[in-house]
Amino acid sequence: MTAHRIAVIPGDGIGTEVVPAGLEALQATADRFGLRLHLDTFGFASAAYWQRHGTMLPADWEQTLRGYDAIYFGAVGWPAVVPDHVSLWGSLLQFRRTFDQYVNLRPCRLMPGVRSPLAGREPGDIDFVVVRENTEGEYSSVGGRVFEGTDRETVLQETIMTRVGVDRVLRYAFDLAARRPARHLTSATKSNGISISMPYWDERVAATAGRYPGVRLDKYHIDALAAQFVLHPDRFDVVVASNLFGDILSDLGPACTGTLGIAPSANINPERDHPSLFEPVHGSAPDIAGKGIANPVGQIWCGSMMLEHLGHPEAAAHLLGAVEDVLALGPRGAPLTPDLHGTGTTAELGHAIAERVRERPTAT
Ligand code: NAD
Ligand code: IPM
Ligand code: MN
Repeated sequence: MTAHRIAVIPGDGIGTEVVPAGLEALQATADRFGLRLHLDTFGFASAAYWQRHGTMLPADWEQTLRGYDAIYFGAVGWPAVVPDHVSLWGSLLQFRRTFDQYVNLRPCRLMPGVRSPLAGREPGDIDFVVVRENTEGEYSSVGGRVFEGTDRETVLQETIMTRVGVDRVLRYAFDLAARRPARHLTSATKSNGISISMPYWDERVAATAGRYPGVRLDKYHIDALAAQFVLHPDRFDVVVASNLFGDILSDLGPACTGTLGIAPSANINPERDHPSLFEPVHGSAPDIAGKGIANPVGQIWCGSMMLEHLGHPEAAAHLLGAVEDVLALGPRGAPLTPDLHGTGTTAELGHAIAERVRERPTAT
C-alpha cells in the first residue's frame, strides 16, 4: 500500500473550519484507492500560536516540515491579534521561499451548477490556470523607511527579479501550456509603466518562447488583462504572471467563476527536493469565521491537486469529479454554502462530497 506523510496546518479563522472538511474528502479518496495517508496536524502558523509564543513558527519548523511529502494548509492571518505582514512573513511566505515552491498553480474553472456573476457564461466556458511566480518579484523585504516622522519621510520597497527565478517559472508555464489542448500562454506585464523589472520579464518571456514554437503566446498589460478577465475569460488557457500580478489575477479569476471559496492553489517545488504546499486561494475570512458557513470546496480541491502531485492522477480525478457531481446538483439538490446561493454549512457540504467520493463509480 502506498503511504504518504502529510503535514496538516489549519492556521486561522475559516482555515480551521475547511481543513476538517478537506481531510474528510481526502481520507475517503485515499480509502477508495488504497492509499495510506499519515497525517500530522500542527498548531503553528496561527494567531493562537503567536499569542502563546510571540512567534509564528517554532525554531525547528524547517526540519520538522522537511520530513513530509506534502503540506496541507488552511489559511493564516488574524489581523486583530497580529499584523498581517508579521504573520504572513513569519509563516506562509517563509514556507514558499525556504522550500523553493516557486510555482503557484491556481486553476480557475466555471463548475457545473455554479453561477458566474458574468452574464451568459456556462460551465466549461471558463477554464484557465494562473501560474504565479511565488518566491520573488514584488514580494521582497528589501527596502525601508528614511527620515521617519519628518516631511521628507520616504518609503522604498524593491522588486527583485532574478534570471533563474523568472526563467524557471516561465519554463513551467510554457511546458504546461504545451501539454494542454489549447496550447495558449498569456503573459501579464506592465512594461509601459514599470520600466525596469517588467521589460526584463517581457525579455525573458520572448527568450523562452523561442523554445516553444507550438505554444501561441500573447501578452497584456495587467490593467487591460484584468478587464479581459471580466469581459472575455473564455479567451485564456494558461496565464503566467509575476508574484503580485498573479496574486491579484488569482482572486479575480475565481470571482468570475462564482466564488473565491472554490479556488485551490498548489505551491509547487517542481524539482521535488522540498515538500510542496496545498492551500485554498482564500484567506482566513474573519467576516464569516466561526459561523460554520465557509465553502470547503477550495480546500477539498487542494486535496485533489495534492494527490496529483503525489503521483495518483486517478484518485485526484475521482475526488475532483465528486466535487463536480455535488456542485452540479445546485443549491436545491446539495447543501451548498451561502456563497453558492445555498443554505448548507461547511460540514454538510464536506460530508456530501466525501459521500460522493465513496459512492461514485471509478473511471476504470
Ligand atoms: P479572504 O480571502 O480571507 O476573504 C475575502 C472575502 O472572501 C471575504 O468576504 C470572505 O468572507 C470571502 N471568502 C473567503 N473564503 C471563503 C470561503 N471559503 N467561503 C465563503 N466565502 C469566502 O481575504 P481577506 O479578508 O483579505 O483576508 C483575511 C485574512 O486572511 C488576512 O489576515 C489575510 O492576510 C489572510 N489571507 C491569507 C491567505 C492565505 O493563508 N493563503 C490568503 C489570503 C488572505
Ligand atoms: C495568497 C495570499 C498571500 C499572498 C498573502 C496572504 C500574503 O493573498 O496566497 O494569495 O499574497 O501570496
Ligand atoms: Mn492572494
